[in-house]
Amino acid sequence: MSFKINNTVTWVGKMDWELRKFHGEEYSTHRGSSYNSYLIKDEKTVLIDTVWQAFTKEFIANLEKEIDLKKIDFIVANHSEIDHSGALPELMRLIPNTPIYCTKTCAKLLKAHYHQDWNFVEVKTGDTLEIGKNKLMFIEAKMLHWPDSMFTYLTGENILFSSDAFGQHFASELMYSDKVDSEGLLYEAMKYYTNILTPFNPLVKKKIEELLSLGLPINMICPGHGIIWRDNPSEIIKTYLEWSKNYKEDQVTIIYDTMWNSTRRMAETIAEGLKEIEANTTIKILSSSKYDKNDIVTEVFKSKAILIGSSTINKGILSSTAAILEMIKGLGFKEKKAAAFGSYGWSGESVRLITEELTKAGLEVVNEGIREEWIPGEAGLDRCRDFGRNFGEKIK
Ligand code: FEO
Repeated sequence: MSFKINNTVTWVGKMDWELRKFHGEEYSTHRGSSYNSYLIKDEKTVLIDTVWQAFTKEFIANLEKEIDLKKIDFIVANHSEIDHSGALPELMRLIPNTPIYCTKTCAKLLKAHYHQDWNFVEVKTGDTLEIGKNKLMFIEAKMLHWPDSMFTYLTGENILFSSDAFGQHFASELMYSDKVDSEGLLYEAMKYYTNILTPFNPLVKKKIEELLSLGLPINMICPGHGIIWRDNPSEIIKTYLEWSKNYKEDQVTIIYDTMWNSTRRMAETIAEGLKEIEANTTIKILSSSKYDKNDIVTEVFKSKAILIGSSTINKGILSSTAAILEMIKGLGFKEKKAAAFGSYGWSGESVRLITEELTKAGLEVVNEGIREEWIPGEAGLDRCRDFGRNFGEKIK
């Protein structure tokens, strides 16, 4: 499959409808994904990025239908990660001397991946490449999301090839933002931002401000994954700017795991108390063992505050809760309030351990948390309701 974006640019990537996990098992992709590669035909012919290694043969065969490979004058590698560079070794075997335009770090990382001394041409922000009627301008985008990342801008057509930034794991033959389900698209873009870019918020903010200051007219944003932003593409740039500023909505997310439902009852009762104080706040109660972990952290991204609960097991916390805490710590959320809760039988360490983890994660822990012994009765549930009310007051 390939399709013409306009008279100059053709999409020659791979739609991966089957993909359900990305980055090994780390990132769920409920809507599949695509590896977007773009062929620019001007007086010179340029290929921007390739696809994941697993689809190399398909990619090359498809590309050969579009162009005699020997007619490719330049390759641009916006990013060295294997989902975009995977087909390069085979392509370079077929057209070995073709120059690869990329950042200095990208050249280093491609060498570290493939151990080949290809014809790298290192570029920096502001460097341009004349390709005929139009030219390419390069914009380094360090840590969006790797040290080597880069955007490439095509003048004349005013297209920004943005690599992973503005991407989403979203497979659709419709390909354009004005054609697909907009709510689903925005959710996937947010999930992508949460799981891939949140740790680099300050750098994203700086880069978006720099991009806006360049004042480039942008008709389309062609990312490395998913849907092309066509109708009002500046909207997703502004949305990224908002997301980069420690984004939050009027939402509280309660995440828990439970063995015999005591901690679940605590979660639901805390929510009742919280609702009395924060009547208009969205409250979500998510089991860390039943819900997808990447969707959970996306809810955390949206939240102004979170509560995390677990029963005590073996002097520790339940494994699914521990995994979510590890993800929250890694993503480095800022300006979110938090507290812990949990049930226990005898030793009862879980609340203290969760509180410690929340503090280490950089969240603003508002109290010492609440723990209830065995199965909370009426008095215990009243304490949970009070705890919810108190938490509601603290996050106002
Ligand atoms: Fe889609 Fe960072 O690779």
